[in-house]
Amino acid sequence: MPAALPDFDSTAFRSALGRFATGVTVVTAMGPDGRPIGLTVSSFNSVSLAPPLVLWSLSLTSGSLPILDAASHYAVNVLAADQLEVAKRFATRGNATDRFAQFPWRPGGNGAPLLEGCTAWFECYNRSRYREGDHCIFVGEVERCGHTDAMPLVFHAGGFDLTPQRSRKTPAS
Ligand SMILES: Cc1cc2nc3c(=O)[nH]c(=O)nc-3n(C[C@H](O)[C@H](O)[C@H](O)COP(=O)(O)O)c2cc1C
Repeated sequence: MPAALPDFDSTAFRSALGRFATGVTVVTAMGPDGRPIGLTVSSFNSVSLAPPLVLWSLSLTSGSLPILDAASHYAVNVLAADQLEVAKRFATRGNATDRFAQFPWRPGGNGAPLLEGCTAWFECYNRSRYREGDHCIFVGEVERCGHTDAMPLVFHAGGFDLTPQRSRKTPAS
């Protein structure tokens, strides 16, 4: 039996989804011309520990889709709480290479750009792509990763939470 038609509009759907707080990442890759591209992504999540897999999804209308679809590798840069300007810049329309202009980066072990000052990074082999609805789900196999103790930038309900407090954190078990 197929799914019933939605009993909500897209605004209600986005508002409900927005209550799921996420971190903020910038997914980066090297283009065929040897120049970096990157965009802000909050749809990142873990998939598997062994093998180590992560996922994220990209709009089919994204100008970066052809490069990310074809790239052998990419990096997921998890932004720290003080990287609001990075999150905003990599979410702007226009040339995905120009977004790097003010922000230092270096090529990772697989060539994908690693932004300075991130709280974690995952260097991924571009393992699988699945078209679903109006997005493409990317599953990456993590070849290298790292992290710092910096607090993460948090996004929810359509906005950035600039004051995640370590003191409010409670152990999960
Ligand atoms: C906090 C935040 C999270 C975002 N998450 C995603 C995402 O998961 N997938 C996506 O396709 N676009 C996401 N976007 C939108 C893209 O960053 C934005 O549309 C960007 O300009 C797309 O890059 P492009 O022009 O190279 O396609 C997000 C934007 C913001 C501000």
